[in-house]
Amino acid sequence: MGKMRLDKFLGHMGFGSRKELGALIRAGRVTVDGMTVTDPATPVDPAGGGVAVDGRPVAFQRHFHVLLHKPAGVITATEDPRQPTVMEVLPPELRRRDLFPVGRLDKETEGLLLLTTDGTLAHRLLSPRWHQPKRYLAQVDAPLGPGDEAAFAAGIALEDGYVTLPGQLEIVGPQEGIVTIYEGKYHQVRRMFAALGKRVVYLRRLSMGPLVLGDLPRGAARPLTEAEVEALYASASLSHP
Ligand code: URA
Repeated sequence: MGKMRLDKFLGHMGFGSRKELGALIRAGRVTVDGMTVTDPATPVDPAGGGVAVDGRPVAFQRHFHVLLHKPAGVITATEDPRQPTVMEVLPPELRRRDLFPVGRLDKETEGLLLLTTDGTLAHRLLSPRWHQPKRYLAQVDAPLGPGDEAAFAAGIALEDGYVTLPGQLEIVGPQEGIVTIYEGKYHQVRRMFAALGKRVVYLRRLSMGPLVLGDLPRGAARPLTEAEVEALYASASLSHP
């Protein structure tokens, strides 16, 4: 791996935004090979170690994971000749070339999207055997009732004949519900409502396994915390590398 700017390196390791890191470095809190550096552009060898913050060595992480609050209107892909992608939404300090999205949100769907550099992790999370809950806030074009809740609890036959695993619908407004599903078929939430005669007019993913969107603003992204990384690998029955 080639050299990388110090602020970018620390950004990848989850130490903050480019702006916060500039301040941290200029405050003299970062050392490279034991020497204090104050220039955020100082080149460092990301794999070689030698960087410390407040005297504590920064362990190199081979993999890097980002939680994005995907806005509507961008597609879940790494590149596209015509349409804006989720990569273009990421702040430059979090754009690593080997980062890719885990699964897909539709162009018009907002909310939690995980991006990772770890193909093994992504593969596990996308496996049909990963039955961790995914929660969505959905608004539909017709009133919801107990029959809809019962249908979600039983599993719903989609238009192609596939019957979903039992899920949950919690009605939170006349035409609004929180849906929990344990798999991720193509357009699943929209198709489940369509099977009940309702059209989804707004969809936002709130959580995925141990990861929660929380109050991350729309369009914002952050590296996963160490605790989130641990929980995510555990949910996929992988040991944290
Ligand atoms: N279900 C959908 O229909 N669309 C999404 O983007 C995610 C889940």
